[in-house]
Amino acid sequence: MAWVKLGVNIDHVATLRQARRERDPDPVLAALIAEQAGADGVTAHLRMDRRHIQERDLEILRQTVKTRLNLEMAPTQEMVQIALRFKPDQCTLVPERPEEVTTEGGLDVVFHQDVVRRIVQRLQDAGIEVSIFIDPQLEQVRATQRVGANAIEINTNAYAHATSPEIRKQELDHIRQAAQMAARLGLRVLAGHALNYHNVRPIVEIPEIEELNIGHAIVARALFVGFFEAVREMKRLLER
Ligand code: PXP
Repeated sequence: MAWVKLGVNIDHVATLRQARRERDPDPVLAALIAEQAGADGVTAHLRMDRRHIQERDLEILRQTVKTRLNLEMAPTQEMVQIALRFKPDQCTLVPERPEEVTTEGGLDVVFHQDVVRRIVQRLQDAGIEVSIFIDPQLEQVRATQRVGANAIEINTNAYAHATSPEIRKQELDHIRQAAQMAARLGLRVLAGHALNYHNVRPIVEIPEIEELNIGHAIVARALFVGFFEAVREMKRLLER
């Protein structure tokens, strides 16, 4: 049986903790439960304002995660220093705007090519794989390959929020085309953002996509069924 790999984003466990600046709930515990439930990796986004994940979390996650630790981060010098200190297995470069509620779109790799290329190189020199979160546009896929990244993560937000079946189909086509081109160029293909228990299946059907990063839907469901069960249910949906 083949599965699409599941990276569980634990940011919102930390969001709840930071709402009270208490110790609970601990995203580290969520990561360990996710792994026990079959997650193939753990993702944490260290934001510039530290609104959810803290450096303390990264430090303990680095010592405890047994699958793969993926650090999502903005392409800034501060974040590169932190990544070099904690040495996650993978970094995912994402754009970040201070007032945004969540990541709003993919990184414009075409525009930021020179800076991104230097960051990719520094991270890879330290043994860290680099994925770049991009919108499903072919010129962004090509630029991602040009800057030397290992992988793309295709932004599925427009697909997930499509307001009609026609737009949804169009968005799915864009994702499929981006995935095919990336695979042809030798990039690993990941996808994520706003995926949930209801909209994930058509993405799973795209053969080039090998891994999905999912956070909000799993944490939200975990409130009612528990973290283990929420991850398990998602994992079942990723069967091919
Ligand atoms: N991938 C990236 C690059 C993200 O920024 C996020 C949100 O932090 C996710 C995946 C997960 O999105 P969601 O929480 O909507 O599942």
